[in-house]
Amino acid sequence: MKQILEPYDITREREMMLPLDYNRRSQLKHYDKTYKAEITNIIRLTEMEKLFQVRIIDDTERERFTFLPGQFVMVEVPGYGEIPISISSSFTHKGFIELCIRKVGLVTTVLHNAKRGCKVGIRGPFGTHFPMEQMRGNNILLIAGGLGLAPLRAPIFHVIENRSYYKDVYILYGTKESNLLLFTYQYEEWDRIADINLRVIAEQGSKDWKGEIGLITDLLDEVDVDPGETNAIVCGPPVMFKFVCQRLTDMGIPMHRMFVSLERRMHCGMGKCCRCNIGSTYTCVDGPVFDYWTVMNLQEAI
Ligand SMILES: Cc1cc2nc3c(=O)[nH]c(=O)nc-3n(C[C@H](O)[C@H](O)[C@H](O)COP(=O)(O)OP(=O)(O)OC[C@H]3O[C@@H](n4cnc5c(N)ncnc54)[C@H](O)[C@@H]3O)c2cc1C
Ligand code: FES
Repeated sequence: MKQILEPYDITREREMMLPLDYNRRSQLKHYDKTYKAEITNIIRLTEMEKLFQVRIIDDTERERFTFLPGQFVMVEVPGYGEIPISISSSFTHKGFIELCIRKVGLVTTVLHNAKRGCKVGIRGPFGTHFPMEQMRGNNILLIAGGLGLAPLRAPIFHVIENRSYYKDVYILYGTKESNLLLFTYQYEEWDRIADINLRVIAEQGSKDWKGEIGLITDLLDEVDVDPGETNAIVCGPPVMFKFVCQRLTDMGIPMHRMFVSLERRMHCGMGKCCRCNIGSTYTCVDGPVFDYWTVMNLQEAI
């Protein structure tokens, strides 16, 4: 008999933000399931990163699978292992999910060598999400460094699809070198079509780089918003979001309105194995998305 999974929708945000309790744990039972999936398309983004389109094979399961911006899945490569990867696509795209994967070690290298049609397992979705519904009516700063644009892409799609709900929207993106920039083919759409202020900066530019040179924090000098009506989502390495969140605090944006995604080594993804904990907080179920005030109160979080 087929397992019936309840689909998520964005209006369930408040329920999803509840702290880990008995009900939440029972909800997690759904996620023991591994969906059989196949890689349907692979796009090379840079030397180190590829974008994978992954499709759940069973029609009913594919139709029911849904997630919220900021959540992640466990990707199983049979015989090699299972790794957590943020979902990088819009939850309104029903046929597939997109995963932007950097080649760093065993499983990610096997995936980078995979061809279209290769089979993988998908568990999830797991974790907390960016509270997009709560942010409605406000300005939004979407800020990413390096690979941080991968998890940020899901909230970017959400804002584009629901543009009228938000006031001024900024996407600020920075990398160490200009040739490491991800998703360059989407910038024009984000900037012009979606009425979003997109600013891109690199610490070092290649010969043909005509954009800005500097640090991601330099881009914040050009942001003109009322801090009392502004939320921020910050994704990237901890050292980056430490500086960025400090600047946002100086601008007057309260810490509880800034959201970051924390990465830890993970194994089960569902609060069972104790691999990802920071004290009594499990990054896989209590996170990976936290508000910055919570992060500041978690010892050794960053
Ligand atoms: C919630 C979450 C979301 C993630 N989303 C993405 C994503 O969208 N795209 C992406 O490319 N990666 C993402 N990662 C990181 C990804 O899971 C690791 O790069 C992957 O597990 C490495 O597997 P591997 O077998 O290739 O490397 P391994 O052979 O296991 O390790 C290779 C190297 O990578 C380091 N490493 C492994 N796992 C992590 C980790 N979780 N954090 C930091 N360093 C690690 C190891 O210390 C080692 O130096 C995410 C991690 C988490 C926890
Ligand atoms: S990954 Fe197992 S408890 Fe978080």
